[in-house]
Amino acid sequence: MIDKPLSQQVAVVTGGGTGIGRAFTEALAAAGVQVVIASRRETVLRAAADQINQEVGSERVFAYACDIRENVQIESLVNDVIKRWRTIDLLINNSGLAVPETVEAISEEGWDKVMDTNLRGVMQLVRAVLPHMIRNSFGDIVNVSSQAGKHGYADVPSYCASKFGLLGYAEALRDHVRKIGANIRVFNLCPGLVDVENTNPGQEPRAGFIHVANIARTLMYVLSLDRNVVVEDISIYAR
Ligand SMILES: NC(=O)c1ccc[n+]([C@@H]2O[C@H](COP(=O)([O-])OP(=O)(O)OC[C@H]3O[C@@H](n4cnc5c(N)ncnc54)[C@H](OP(=O)(O)O)[C@@H]3O)[C@@H](O)[C@H]2O)c1
Repeated sequence: MIDKPLSQQVAVVTGGGTGIGRAFTEALAAAGVQVVIASRRETVLRAAADQINQEVGSERVFAYACDIRENVQIESLVNDVIKRWRTIDLLINNSGLAVPETVEAISEEGWDKVMDTNLRGVMQLVRAVLPHMIRNSFGDIVNVSSQAGKHGYADVPSYCASKFGLLGYAEALRDHVRKIGANIRVFNLCPGLVDVENTNPGQEPRAGFIHVANIARTLMYVLSLDRNVVVEDISIYAR
């Protein structure tokens, strides 16, 4: 079974310019991974890429403007990364959002935005990336679900539906790659509240939240496991 050191890998991290995604990007870049960060706001992505590249002293993070709800933009992203590096070794499906609502006062606009970003966007990105991972006989796909993918909360019903749905999709994906004998692992992270405001090293998270660095450390831990290891959903939240 092919293995590849992180320092030779190319990653795509959606939403990699802010919050949890940025913490993933920092940890991966520090480990020598070439990281393409993709989301809608190019200025945010560029600023994050510049800062992280300065910190690691090398050009390892690349900004790519992409709305994951738009299939044409997904295809351009994947084609451009493959054209440049010939591989996508790690896909982190981190982009996501919630729209506050209730079951009774839920709007079509709100649930479409949530489902299209958190679920449909992931499915179309995986569909575009998977053939390249299969061709290269190597890949890891990490999905950021949530504790709202494990439990229902009255104030975010469509967010819960999308994050539960993401776990179901990931299970089907894991079964698919197992059946075709592909060297591809699928991991799901299910965080509770993560403080994406107090993110400096050592900074105290708000009460009930965990520091974002813990999510990045969990990512690096699962990636370090042997290629034949399956870890299903990792629930991680404040004590
Ligand atoms: N923070 C928490 O407590 C927590 C807990 C459990 C799970 N999560 C999950 O963790 C993930 C990251 O969230 P976060 O807390 O780090 O918040 P965040 O900083 O708001 O990150 C969300 C990211 O998603 C991107 N995004 C939104 N819509 C997009 C679209 N249509 N296409 C491409 N990218 C899009 C945003 O970038 P642009 O605006 O530039 O597009 C942003 O970078 C989400 O999936 C969230 O559901 C968070």
